[in-house]
Amino acid sequence: MKQLIDRLASVHDADDRELASLLICEDPDIQHYLAVRADEIRRQVYGTDVYLRGLIEFSSYCKNDCYYCGIRKSNRRAIRYRLTKEQILSCCETGYDLGYRTFVLQSGEDPWYTDDRICSIVASIRERYPDCAITLSLGEKTRDSYQRYYDAGANRYLLRHETANDTHYSRLHPSSMRLAARKQCLFDLKEIGYQVGAGFMIGSPYQTTDLIVEDFRFLQQLRPDMIGCGPFIPHEDTAFRDEPQGALSLCLRILSILRLLFPYVLLPATTALGSIHPAGRELGLKAGANVVMPNLSPVDVRAYYRLYDHKICTGEEAAECRACLARRVESAGYQLVTARGDVRKP
Ligand code: SAM
Ligand code: FES
Repeated sequence: MKQLIDRLASVHDADDRELASLLICEDPDIQHYLAVRADEIRRQVYGTDVYLRGLIEFSSYCKNDCYYCGIRKSNRRAIRYRLTKEQILSCCETGYDLGYRTFVLQSGEDPWYTDDRICSIVASIRERYPDCAITLSLGEKTRDSYQRYYDAGANRYLLRHETANDTHYSRLHPSSMRLAARKQCLFDLKEIGYQVGAGFMIGSPYQTTDLIVEDFRFLQQLRPDMIGCGPFIPHEDTAFRDEPQGALSLCLRILSILRLLFPYVLLPATTALGSIHPAGRELGLKAGANVVMPNLSPVDVRAYYRLYDHKICTGEEAAECRACLARRVESAGYQLVTARGDVRKP
């Protein structure tokens, strides 16, 4: 197994059977070795820097009905809110003063934010903070809409593909949602010139080892700049409420394998990973991740953007989150940097 890991670290690929054998390997020695080799590669490309992304969750309304998601439209118990442009700009101001140079605007698919509104928000952020990267994560839009946001000043877009397998996709989403459409969005975004992030939940219902290998293959085809992968965590008001959450050890193995397959990639240690284990994000960094995405949303709405149960960091002020993460990152042997943190793709 160590030989396989060494080969993966030098050629950045392996066959399906080999990848599957690493995914299921529970041997602590091997897992440790996998993390060490992934950390070596990450240090070669990005040193010990960990990039900060300030997440602004600006609307909890969603017209979609993804079965796993706490803010899906049929969850009548979800509390809905929308931030005004002024509130979003004020989050950016707080973030900028705390050293953030990337703002991630994320929401449910909320038609209230027309393209004109999104463009006006993006253009104002671009004008006030020309040195910052603007990342959008608004779901599936037309190519024309993506182009308009890009022209208004957005640089990056996060859209997890969720699963690369049609049948699995249809077990996680209503029939109105199509995997082909989601994949097309990702290729459109790339063509327009965005730095693109794809990814999937780990341990989502019906996921198998072979399906994860399919995710790797799709990612190899897309070659995204960022890969967002965190554990699935059930939400009490969804049909998946009794499903088990993604396992920490599998999450860590996947982060390490991703680092070995994609040395250049920006890989977050997600909030969901921090939500399933008190040291989840630190362990994620040690396994190969190099990005953290603390919350910049106003504290009074944070708890309402509840995608899953037991989400951490819903009560802290932005400054507290920043300080807490700096300590955590340092304790893991890395340092938070305020650079924009663009991808270093060969
Ligand atoms: N609406 C946008 C979209 O669909 O891309 C962005 C918001 S969506 C809530 C962001 C991500 O949250 C999804 O891509 C999904 O992977 C993740 N997510 C949703 N429900 C989750 C759950 N129960 N556990 C873990 N992650 C979840
Ligand atoms: Fe739309 Fe989750 S169903 S954000």
